[in-house]
Amino acid sequence: MTDTAPATFDAHAAAYEAPRRRLIPPFDAFYGTAVDALTMLPAPPRRVLDLGAGTGMLSARVAAAYPEAELVLTDGAPAMLEQARAALGDRAEIHVADLNDPLPPGGFDAVVSALAIHHLDDAGKQALFARIVAALPPGGVFVNAEQVAGPFPCFDRRYHAWHEASARAAGSDDAEWAGALERMRHDQPADVESQLRWLREAGFDAADCLFKDHRFAVLVARRALGKS
Ligand SMILES: C[S@@+](CC[C@H](N)C(=O)[O-])C[C@H]1O[C@@H](n2cnc3c(N)ncnc32)[C@H](O)[C@@H]1O
Repeated sequence: MTDTAPATFDAHAAAYEAPRRRLIPPFDAFYGTAVDALTMLPAPPRRVLDLGAGTGMLSARVAAAYPEAELVLTDGAPAMLEQARAALGDRAEIHVADLNDPLPPGGFDAVVSALAIHHLDDAGKQALFARIVAALPPGGVFVNAEQVAGPFPCFDRRYHAWHEASARAAGSDDAEWAGALERMRHDQPADVESQLRWLREAGFDAADCLFKDHRFAVLVARRALGKS
């Protein structure tokens, strides 16, 4: 692998999970809102796709909330997925795949993702949103718990200062923050307003930002109930 986001995450997979709560200041509200958004579905999900699933932090929470659901995980970093396999066992169908690839076959009641799609450029995000809506049934939901850009550069500077101050207050030392910055080299976040527009343009009839704390946001989109 070259100098890509999956290669960077693959190389540091063993150390990925431990600092998550320090590096995602609103950790519980962020992942909790993402899982709770699945209650917008017309019925409990039976099959959920997690894109850029990594070690399975979001999938594990979906699996706990919906014990009957089958989880399908994709990621470009095999070492991250090995941890997901260990955590989820038979509950998970696992695919090493790029976010630009076609989605796994089989259809899904919901598609979820956390902190992954901002590694694609804006054209890649929009193309992925179109593949996601096509993979969902009427009433299907896409939940993207994401790192977003500010609508103006002054807000990006504010998000970054708040993020570092919050992580350090929670106990991140210089090495841990340097590791976070190393992974953030691959970030290409987009602002909330643009992403909500792209979701509607892709074919979702409804899209909203259900949670936002500085650069951490949960975007939710629903495919129209009446369309096939
Ligand atoms: C910050 S981690 C998030 C992992 C997990 N969703 C979570 O919430 O902990 C980002 C993940 O996206 C994956 N990723 C980034 N760009 C990707 C791409 N183009 N194709 C596939 N996976 C990608 C990385 O390998 C990494 O596992």
